[in-house]
Amino acid sequence: MRGRWKRAIRVIHKKGLCVQCMCRLNDVMPMAHGLKVSKRLGERAIKTVTQLTLIDRKLKILDVEDSLVIPLKRTLSKEDEEKLKETLYTFECVWDSFPKRVRVVKSLIEALENDLPPNLLPYLPKAMDIVGSVAIVDISPEIEAWKRSVGSAVLQVNRNVETVLAKAGLVQGKHRLRQFEVIAGTGETKVVHREYGCTYQLDPTEVYFTPRLSEERRRVAEQVREGETIVDMFASVGPFAIQIGKTCENVKVYAVDVNEKAYNFLMRNIKANGVEKTVIPVLGDVKTLVERFTGVFDRVILDLPEKASEFIDVACRLLKPEGGIMHYYCFHSKPSVLEKAEKRLRGKITEANRILQNVVYKRCLRQIGPRRWHAVLDVIVS
Ligand SMILES: C[S@@+](CC[C@H](N)C(=O)[O-])C[C@H]1O[C@@H](n2cnc3c(N)ncnc32)[C@H](O)[C@@H]1O
Repeated sequence: MRGRWKRAIRVIHKKGLCVQCMCRLNDVMPMAHGLKVSKRLGERAIKTVTQLTLIDRKLKILDVEDSLVIPLKRTLSKEDEEKLKETLYTFECVWDSFPKRVRVVKSLIEALENDLPPNLLPYLPKAMDIVGSVAIVDISPEIEAWKRSVGSAVLQVNRNVETVLAKAGLVQGKHRLRQFEVIAGTGETKVVHREYGCTYQLDPTEVYFTPRLSEERRRVAEQVREGETIVDMFASVGPFAIQIGKTCENVKVYAVDVNEKAYNFLMRNIKANGVEKTVIPVLGDVKTLVERFTGVFDRVILDLPEKASEFIDVACRLLKPEGGIMHYYCFHSKPSVLEKAEKRLRGKITEANRILQNVVYKRCLRQIGPRRWHAVLDVIVS
């Protein structure tokens, strides 16, 4: 058997694929020695060549009709042949081209451990936001010079990501936007993001969006009862309003935003999610719309945490005279985040000549700075 390596004949499909195993012959396909055995003996053969440290783990095993071809690191020695004859009886030695195994890289550290100086590995981003096919990362100053390598590693680890954006500033301005820098990928930032059965078209460079509130949006949607009229005062591309519109049929949700680009995405998203009957998009500043909608709503969603307290009076005016529920999102610093939030909210509701009857839910959602927290309070207002 030794020395009689047969060159395997492969038939190539017109799309450049091998017709036997559909491997891509146009890809890098190194030539190597192989052990061809019938599939019946496959498991035993793999075990034996592994024991003999012959198997080449960098290459894929070929599946050809009734046989397997196992890639080998070297030609067989006399001892190897003896052992194989003992365990397999029949086998063939071939010289063939094998597809390379794609190494599945699961973490940024794994992807970069051979490229980055070891002292910089702890500075790699621990988390990232995935919005559709865009990944958003925070690059710490220590690894600024390596940001493109980090971007490529993000693409390697997340196969569905096409563009990697690095945060290049704080969330700012009336539209709550952030500057980003493209550090890897195609640079396309218009995406379709999926969340609990809804799809949202958006561009994170043009509108505010965070996937981190997905649980919150679902929690609020599950509380809505048939027949309610709701206003999402700061709707952006509509994730609260559309989730509610999808969950409950007999409701009306007014989704307000001042950012025209967000409003345009919102209109498309209403259509794409089939909630035209339940979600009504409104373009404008919620302060100027209050005359039109005074006393209309059973429930208000107030999701502008940086300026939440400035809009509590507006939210109170929007609620029905007999009262309703307010979902209030805010930022406060430790200690006593929830106590501070409740005190501020109660005071502002009283100033608006309403009464905070009851806090039905309160929770710190996530840390947004060294001592600062994002929190939510659901309150009944009369
Ligand atoms: C924090 S984002 C809301 C995010 C949204 N609720 C979500 O879950 O993705 C705040 C939004 O409020 C809008 N906005 C800010 N001031 C506004 C105002 N006075 N009237 C209406 N919309 C406003 C901004 O354009 C921005 O889209």
